[in-house]
Amino acid sequence: MRVLGIETSCDETGVAIYDSASGLLGHALHSQIDLHACYGGVVPELASRDHVRRLLPMIRQLLAATDTAPEAVDGVAYTAGPGLVGALMVGGAVGRALAYAWAVPAIGVHHMEGHLLAPMLEADPPAFPLVALLVSGGHTQLVEVTAIGRYRLLGESLDDAAGEAFDKAAKMLGLGYPGGPEIARLASGGTPGRYRLPRPMTDRPGLDFSFSGLKTAVLHTIAAAAGDAGLPDDQTCADIAWAFQDAVVDTLVVKCLRALAETGLQTLVIAGGVSANRLLRERLEQALASRAARVCYARSEFCTDNGAMIAYAGCQRMLHGGGEDLAIRAWPRWPLTSLPALGAAR
Ligand code: KG4
Ligand code: ZN
Repeated sequence: MRVLGIETSCDETGVAIYDSASGLLGHALHSQIDLHACYGGVVPELASRDHVRRLLPMIRQLLAATDTAPEAVDGVAYTAGPGLVGALMVGGAVGRALAYAWAVPAIGVHHMEGHLLAPMLEADPPAFPLVALLVSGGHTQLVEVTAIGRYRLLGESLDDAAGEAFDKAAKMLGLGYPGGPEIARLASGGTPGRYRLPRPMTDRPGLDFSFSGLKTAVLHTIAAAAGDAGLPDDQTCADIAWAFQDAVVDTLVVKCLRALAETGLQTLVIAGGVSANRLLRERLEQALASRAARVCYARSEFCTDNGAMIAYAGCQRMLHGGGEDLAIRAWPRWPLTSLPALGAAR
């Protein structure tokens, strides 16, 4: 089965073609970072309009580049949520219309299920059951996964998401958006241990997260170091970035180990934009090696938003008979645990 995947939930237009027999045939991504840069965040209306402009030409190019005639497409998968409703509607309307014209089924995919399954696109993919840490700009969740669609929420952030914390800390340090890669870059020149920031909620039981206190701690540290100046000197900013990244990564690692211990599982998947973070990957690899457990993640370009994960997730659901009526779905909020299960729990 060959599926066209469309991702337009936020500020990237992503398209891909996944074939269940031969794997990922091709993908393309357009990031709107430059478009929103001068506003200090994503402007929803501009995002929708840019998706309108980009999507059809990108699909046309992808079909040509992968030598895929429209008749060879067996289904269309589009991100139906969670995300910006106007942006979702663009992908939904285009995806649904193409499917109608090509007389094939279309399916609305859950964006976070897409992230969760992205590591399946890599060689030696993880097997169920597993624990997934979903860390994006809008979500921080630990989920027990026993099959596609069998999701038990183990814990989540009570306030800011991990990616959001990176973005806000970056802004405080005068860096651009998205903040994750910027903080990581600045932190690489930081002095280990000059500052120590809190590891929120690691000193009490449970698998929930909270990052808003850490954000406040960054603000106070910057203010104390800067004195009357707006920002501290460059080295001090790098030292604070180091301490911030260290605190977020440490917190995530503590909770992942706890989730593996509580579920008795040996496989951890990390997914979503923050899973591209090198330090997070290294620390988890170190921590799990001594426990005979394994951490799996997607290549960096498939950690952040992309069409390939949507094509893959849509294909899996279609192989199990998924396909929907003619409605265009767009759910700005959509709990992952409400999805129908594919197959029995492992
Ligand atoms: O999954 P994603 O592309 O979009 C959402 O679904 O939200 O995640 C974007 C988030 C942003 O907050 C960004 O700062 C963060 O992922 N991010 C990173 C890194 N790359 C992206 N955070 C830490 N380290 C990175 N290397
Ligand atoms: Zn995402």
